[in-house]
Amino acid sequence: MPVAKQTEISPAEGKLGVLLVGLGAVSTTFIAGVEAIKKGFAKPIGSLTQMGTIRLGKRTDNRVPLIKDFLPLAQLKDLVFGAWDIFPESAYDAALNAGVLEKELLAQLKEPLRKIKPMQAVFDQSYVKRLSGTNVKTGKTKFDLAQQLIDEIAQWKKKNKCSRVVMIWAASTEVFLKTHPVHKTLETFEKAMKENHKAIAPSMIYAYAALKSGIPFANGAPNLTVDIPALMTLADKNRLAICGKDFKTGQTLMKTIIAPGLKSRMLGLHGWYSTNILGNRDGEVLDDPDSFKTKEESKLSVLEYILQPEVYPDLYKDFSHVVRINYYPPRGDNKEGWDNIDIFGWLGYPMQIKIDFLCRDSILAAPIVLDLALFLDLAQRSGMKGVQEWLSFYFKSPQTAPGLYPEHDIFIQLMKLKNTLRHLRGEDLITHLGLEYYD
Ligand SMILES: NC(=O)c1ccc[n+]([C@@H]2O[C@H](COP(=O)([O-])OP(=O)(O)OC[C@H]3O[C@@H](n4cnc5c(N)ncnc54)[C@H](O)[C@@H]3O)[C@@H](O)[C@H]2O)c1
Repeated sequence: MPVAKQTEISPAEGKLGVLLVGLGAVSTTFIAGVEAIKKGFAKPIGSLTQMGTIRLGKRTDNRVPLIKDFLPLAQLKDLVFGAWDIFPESAYDAALNAGVLEKELLAQLKEPLRKIKPMQAVFDQSYVKRLSGTNVKTGKTKFDLAQQLIDEIAQWKKKNKCSRVVMIWAASTEVFLKTHPVHKTLETFEKAMKENHKAIAPSMIYAYAALKSGIPFANGAPNLTVDIPALMTLADKNRLAICGKDFKTGQTLMKTIIAPGLKSRMLGLHGWYSTNILGNRDGEVLDDPDSFKTKEESKLSVLEYILQPEVYPDLYKDFSHVVRINYYPPRGDNKEGWDNIDIFGWLGYPMQIKIDFLCRDSILAAPIVLDLALFLDLAQRSGMKGVQEWLSFYFKSPQTAPGLYPEHDIFIQLMKLKNTLRHLRGEDLITHLGLEYYD
């Protein structure tokens, strides 16, 4: 039984619009997956909101509901999808191009997928050098483009009869940008948009438009995007939930599973060499050194934070960490990630771990998109505003409050996520102390 005050959560009534920036491999695999699940062709494997349970109360209480029964999440039947892309193809053609899902499955989903035609993108090739497309908005200034997006979002919401909307960036990784003085306040940010300042990337224009439209925003790529003071302030001011950055799939998922285990047993690390071969469009974009730099920063920080070399110098001082991504077209979306991990144990004796993860990038990312859409909507209906650190579980480079280091350990992230859900429902938080069983 709930012991504390429950948070008031408004009901998930009506349709939830999911606006996706980018209609590529991840977005189409997500949409097609939801449609397939709705038709009963498949189960929502990999989705915590759909398959996960949550323990409540004591271990002896036997209260373990499904998360989706414990909280008023939007239902899959109520999701409506919209997208922007620089290519005009429908979700059906884009899914065929992405080559993640089998043609036979897509043929059965043709009708709903064909209806999703991408709106014209806000795009500038200087931020994604390897891409060019025709389905692009024109406008005199970045501010003008943001206004176009705001109008378009309002029309889309009305046309699709949505009561609520969330926006998720699943578009290509932009070139590496550092926080710039124009990102500091909303005033400097808006002025910079009007002056077409180069520190304002297209992803920031979408995030601004979402926040101005009262829509929560998640960033699935490593770009700065909503992780700047101006937009964090705007989210706070408009009481909107935001989170990012970079969906945690593949190699980094493995890293955040294995590194906490090594550290928990006080095993040392000499080095961790990671390399990937990847042949999809994401791989092609990341073949550009400026886009790769954004990804590399996101991937590299994980081990430093988990292993804490400053706290454990004997185990982790000066370990070498290298990450490579090589574009190799024959593999398509089926990435291969190799890890060579040089560890050491008792008396400093060296050992090695080798991982060869034959993964499917978008298959790992699609359930994350679903969970983020549903949890962001839940956060919004629960009055949670600003950075949603409890959603760190889904990100390689979790966004936090200023001055706070990110938590990368996936087990701590999961505990934080589930305790947040318990807290929302006024249930006891679970600390795993368990002394009461031995009284
Ligand atoms: N698949 C994964 O496991 C994974 C994990 C972490 C992060 N990501 C990130 O998610 C994003 C999507 O990955 P993907 O595999 O679907 O890539 P993709 O290349 O298949 O799709 C990205 C789409 O975004 C479009 N696009 C680019 N700039 C745009 C803009 N300004 N506005 C609208 N559309 C734009 C492109 O035309 C493309 O269709 C990438 O940034 C990738 O790095 C993916």
